[in-house]
Amino acid sequence: MHDTILILDFGSQVTQLIARRVREANVYCEIRSFASPLASLRAMPGLKGIILSGGPASVYVPGAPQVDPGLFKLGVPILGICYGMQATTQAHGGRVIQAADREFGRTELTVTVDDPLFAGLPRTQTVWMSHGDRIESLPGAEIIATSANCPLAAVRAATLNFHGVQFHPEVAHTVHGAAILANFLTRICGCRGDWKMGSFIDEEIQRLRQQIGNGRVILGLSGGVDSSVAAVLLHRAIGRQLTCIFVDNGLLRQDEATGVRELFATHIGIDLDVVDAGGRFLSALAGVTDPERKRKIIGKLFVDVFKDEAIRIKSKGSGGEVRFLAQGTLYPDVIESVSVHGGPASVIKSHHNVGGLPADLGLELVEPFRFLFKDEVRTLGAALGLSDAIVWRQPFPGPGLAVRILGEVTAQRVALLQRADAIVRAEIEAAGLTRALWQAFAVLLPVQSVGVMGDERTYESCCAIRAVTSSDGMTADWAHLPHELLGKLSSRIINEVRGINRVVYDITSKPPGTIEWE
Ligand code: XMP
Repeated sequence: MHDTILILDFGSQVTQLIARRVREANVYCEIRSFASPLASLRAMPGLKGIILSGGPASVYVPGAPQVDPGLFKLGVPILGICYGMQATTQAHGGRVIQAADREFGRTELTVTVDDPLFAGLPRTQTVWMSHGDRIESLPGAEIIATSANCPLAAVRAATLNFHGVQFHPEVAHTVHGAAILANFLTRICGCRGDWKMGSFIDEEIQRLRQQIGNGRVILGLSGGVDSSVAAVLLHRAIGRQLTCIFVDNGLLRQDEATGVRELFATHIGIDLDVVDAGGRFLSALAGVTDPERKRKIIGKLFVDVFKDEAIRIKSKGSGGEVRFLAQGTLYPDVIESVSVHGGPASVIKSHHNVGGLPADLGLELVEPFRFLFKDEVRTLGAALGLSDAIVWRQPFPGPGLAVRILGEVTAQRVALLQRADAIVRAEIEAAGLTRALWQAFAVLLPVQSVGVMGDERTYESCCAIRAVTSSDGMTADWAHLPHELLGKLSSRIINEVRGINRVVYDITSKPPGTIEWE
């Protein structure tokens, strides 16, 4: 049995980042709601410690999520992060106040007392704060670190077996955050660090077999890394109970449909059911310019196509009724599309495979990566023996080029963007940058501007180039592409793509921008 860390979620946007850091320290973890019954937590096998996440509420507001004091009698160490620390304070007769200055961003932390949480780390270090409240006192607690705005930046309370930090060790901006969490896991909870991605594969295969039984599954394959790895994992788990469906929705990149078919036949050896639905998608999108409406329409159509295929498979008699729809949904898709516990986390955009699904889908969802990040799926893909050609494909969004065509999506505008985008991808590949970049693509703007080519006046569309670096898509930096490369992209697009006479480069990071323009 492996060691288990329980993460109790109080509604933070970054709870899954805590889980990810725990996995990176080779420790198994599970995320449960803060409201989970104590008895179910007590029964968790191998429980070694608990982490209380942050959250957007104020503990003193009526109805705010509370910490169950019974947790502190389970006999394992507890770490409270931000709200988790404040809620612990509230539950034990301490004082939480509204800070005079809300604090968002990097700040210097000074460790004042030797503690295993900061073992091996510098006394002064940069941490990331994001809070409006702070704790003022916690009976029996000792301050172990402070910052200019936050006298109780980290505390320990021996009687409660508790450590609390006001900053967020799980985010990358906290320079030694991963090491602080690893210290909690190994030095305080005594975890051995014996969990690996290979264990995830075995456990997930068991879980999938249990969920699916002898049911039939269809999987929406986009050819991107997530759905491809999901296909292979599912194929391993349930073999011929799986049918992979590739929907050509008319919103794919140039030559994508042929490319994916070949890739699948050569590298994976799983049959692909290709559905040509371009006309259906484009006519549903006619006249639509609102990004969220586009996403919802596309999401709904995908579901319609899958349902039709399910009926077709049944009528063909190839394996009976389809009961499940599998998707390579990742955690960032989930967190930006739904709000946790019906409230705290706010919706950024409806990722088609999450936000666009109807309540009466009629198919049970199978989402093996719902709690993983892209780079973890890549590690998983490599562990499953997939080639670099698949593992290192750049992500491509489910709604395809529709969210890169601002304004109305028409067949003609899709063709225009496909040609510009193919040039971007070819030049990025030729420059050897594909793997270094999270994504590089072209975006078609609903803007026309005046140009001059030869002696002729032109009045044509403008295209933006988007290239970003990122490790998980949750945050991203615009890529500092060489000027020569940018120059080449601009002149090739303007010369070769009739209908585009201006190229701009997007220098917005995420946040405040998002990677896709819609
Ligand atoms: P944003 O635009 O939200 O994108 O910053 C983050 C990452 O997610 C991809 N993306 C999607 N992937 N379905 C997907 O499977 C979607 O609806 C979707 N929208 C965005 C995007 O390409 C980027 O890698």
